[in-house]
Amino acid sequence: MITAYQSSCQNRVDAALESLLSSPRPELERLYAAMRYSVFNGGKRIRPLLAYAACEALGGEAPRANAAACAVELIHAYSLVHDDLPAMDDDDLRRGQPTTHIAFDEACAILAGDGLQSLAFEVLADSTHNPHNPDVRLAMLTALARAAGPAGMVGGQAIDLGSVGRRLDQRALETMHRHKTGALIEASVRLGALASERADEPALHALHTYARAIGLAFQVQDDILDVESDTATLGKTQGKDQAHHKPTYPALLGLDAAKAYALHLRDQALLALRPFDQAAEPLRELACYIVERRS
Ligand code: IPE
Ligand code: IPE
Ligand code: MG
Ligand code: MG
Ligand code: MG
Repeated sequence: MITAYQSSCQNRVDAALESLLSSPRPELERLYAAMRYSVFNGGKRIRPLLAYAACEALGGEAPRANAAACAVELIHAYSLVHDDLPAMDDDDLRRGQPTTHIAFDEACAILAGDGLQSLAFEVLADSTHNPHNPDVRLAMLTALARAAGPAGMVGGQAIDLGSVGRRLDQRALETMHRHKTGALIEASVRLGALASERADEPALHALHTYARAIGLAFQVQDDILDVESDTATLGKTQGKDQAHHKPTYPALLGLDAAKAYALHLRDQALLALRPFDQAAEPLRELACYIVERRS
């Protein structure tokens, strides 16, 4: 269920993203159209929500995290455009619509992904978009670069592609999921916390423990939904993990044990938030939403 909190955050980040994605010149209209298509096609905006909620959990006002929210969603959108390419998962449906390389063409999709990625870092670096002091902006840039790059999401995607048809043990599967999906979710929480300008070490540590748990839970639930949901609800082709011989939690543990593991991770996340007051309620709700969602 999407709550009023979730829809107000979605509206806030969408307005900020709109302003970043208008073409500066007619020659670039097709590239920008592909970038907008990849961003404004019905994503749940979980990562921006986490950034806003982490900022608020520390007493910051949500709009202070606007640049952080845009940056993590831009990286996420780019990662999906490239994930769907024929050389990777070769998917033709995303969020209920043709994937970017189908709606445009492959070269355009590669460039749209590249453009979205660069824009994410520009938004964080530019003080007109991200009005924090240079130390905070640099900390945000470093965290996002690590999470998106070879030691994070890109590394996870490489492990994923290298694991097709192989049976990973639980440790190796966890490493893959923590990289390909967990790292960006952890960065979303960290960037939001940094945007509050009230993040001390104990708070950052507790939020990291929370984010690590939900980051893994998110991909465990994605694997579960690939097995037991349907294409219309998911907006992406159901059953493709099995068809592509991907190692997943349901394949390794069975569906029931995978579901129990997702709930266990949610409980770990909630435990990490015990020192926080009422202001962390959106973070708590998001932890529950991540393992209860149906799409
Ligand atoms: C899908 O992410 C890809 C994974 C990292 C598992 P989401 O489920 O957040 O996708 P959208 O943005 O809502 O479409
Ligand atoms: C994708 O994982 C993770 C990314 C970094 C994009 P999946 O390949 O399982 O994501 P979906 O199921 O296509 O959304
Ligand atoms: Mg993939
Ligand atoms: Mg995929
Ligand atoms: Mg998946």
